[in-house]
Amino acid sequence: MNGTAVVAYSGGLDTSCILAWLKEDPYAFDKVVAVLVDVGQEFDLDESIVRAGAAGAEDVLVLDRKDAFAEEQCALAIATNALYEGKYPLVSALSRPVIAQAVAEIALELGAEAVVHGCTGKGNDQLRFELAFKANYPGVRVIAPLRDRISTRDEEIEYALARGIPVVQTAASPYSIDENLFGRAIEAGVLEDPWNAPPEEPYALTSDPASAPAPVEIVVGFECGLPVSLDGEGLQLAALVAALNHLAGVYGIGRIDMIENRSVGIKSREVYEAPGAIALITAHSALEDVVLTRDESRLKRPLEQRWTELVYEGRWFSPAREAIDAFVASTQELVTGDVRLELRPNAAVVTGARSPHMLYAAELASYGTGETFPHDAAEGFIRISSLETELHAARKRAKITV
Ligand code: ARG
Repeated sequence: MNGTAVVAYSGGLDTSCILAWLKEDPYAFDKVVAVLVDVGQEFDLDESIVRAGAAGAEDVLVLDRKDAFAEEQCALAIATNALYEGKYPLVSALSRPVIAQAVAEIALELGAEAVVHGCTGKGNDQLRFELAFKANYPGVRVIAPLRDRISTRDEEIEYALARGIPVVQTAASPYSIDENLFGRAIEAGVLEDPWNAPPEEPYALTSDPASAPAPVEIVVGFECGLPVSLDGEGLQLAALVAALNHLAGVYGIGRIDMIENRSVGIKSREVYEAPGAIALITAHSALEDVVLTRDESRLKRPLEQRWTELVYEGRWFSPAREAIDAFVASTQELVTGDVRLELRPNAAVVTGARSPHMLYAAELASYGTGETFPHDAAEGFIRISSLETELHAARKRAKITV
C-alpha cells in the first residue's frame, strides 16, 4: 500500500503523464494530488484541470503565488542585483522554491508519503525542487519520474492518448521553455549548437531590437531598495514588473544569450528574455551608486555574487542566504529615490538618479566655482599614502645597485 503523492504540476504533457504513471508500477500510489502554482506563467486553467483529472489525479489545487513570488523572491533579487555569471537574473531559480514550498506544505497537510517533480536528471531545477522539498518537509520521499525513465515526446503523446488524457496537438515546439513573472528561459532545439544565432520564434516577451520604436524615457521610483512606482504611479511589484516587461520588451531589452555553467557540471546554451528584471536591476544598482558608502558597495558586490550562486544552486532555504539578506536589508534603508531610464534598442540606459539620501555631493565633486573640497589636505594625504611605495622603491633600487 502506497498512500498519497503530491505533484508539482504544470499542466503540460510531462507532468500530466507523471500523474498517470504514479498510479502504475513501480510507484502504485493510491492517491495523486496535482498542485499547480501560478507564478505568472501562461497556462490554460480549465484545460490543465481537465487534463489532471483525465490522468487520474484525485484532486487538482491551483494556488496563486504571483504576489508572494514578486514580493519575496523578485524583490530580494532586485535588492541584491542578482545576475548569475554577470548576466542571468535567475528567473527559473527564483520560482522553484515558491512552487516546491507550496507542494511540500500541501503534502505535509495531507500526510502524503511523497512529493514529485517533473525535472530531468540533467538540469539545475531538480536540485532546486528537491532541496526546497526537503527544507519544507524533512524526511519526505522525493520522486523524479523523468529521471527514473527517459521518455520521448512521441512516447508521452502516445501514452497520453491511450489513457484518454487530452493533449494539445500543436506542432511540437523544439524548445524547452520555463516562464514566470520575472522572465522566460528558453533552451534546446537549434540553440544546442552555440554557433547558431537564436531565431526570433521562441521569444514572447521581447521584440527584435531592429524593429524598436523611437527611444522613450521612464522614471522608476524606489523605496528602501524596492521598486514602487513607474512614472510617478505607485504600483505593486508584480504589476510593475509586468508593465516593464511590456515597455522594455518592445526594445528587445533583456534578451540574454549565454553559455552557462550548470550546477551539474555541464555548460549549456541558454537564451533568456527578462526585460522588466534587467531594467529594474539596472535602475536599482544606479541608485545604490549615489547612496551607498564605498565600503558598503565593496562589501555588497561579492556578497551579491555569493547570494546569486546560492540561489542558482538550489540553496534558497539556507541560513547563508538569509544572512546575506540581512546584510542587504541594512544597506537598503536609504536606497530611496528615482532613476531615469532611457529605453532604446537593446539597452535600458540610466540617464539620471536622485535621492534625498545621496552621498554624491556636487559641492565636493564639482570642477566649477563654489566647491568645498579641501585641496590643501590632498598633499598630506598623498604623502602618507605614498610612504610605503617610496620605501619599497628605495629598497628595490638599493638591491639592484649593490
Ligand atoms: N538554465 C536555467 C536555470 O537553471 C533555466 C532552466 C529552465 N528550465 C527549462 N526547462 N527551460 O535557471
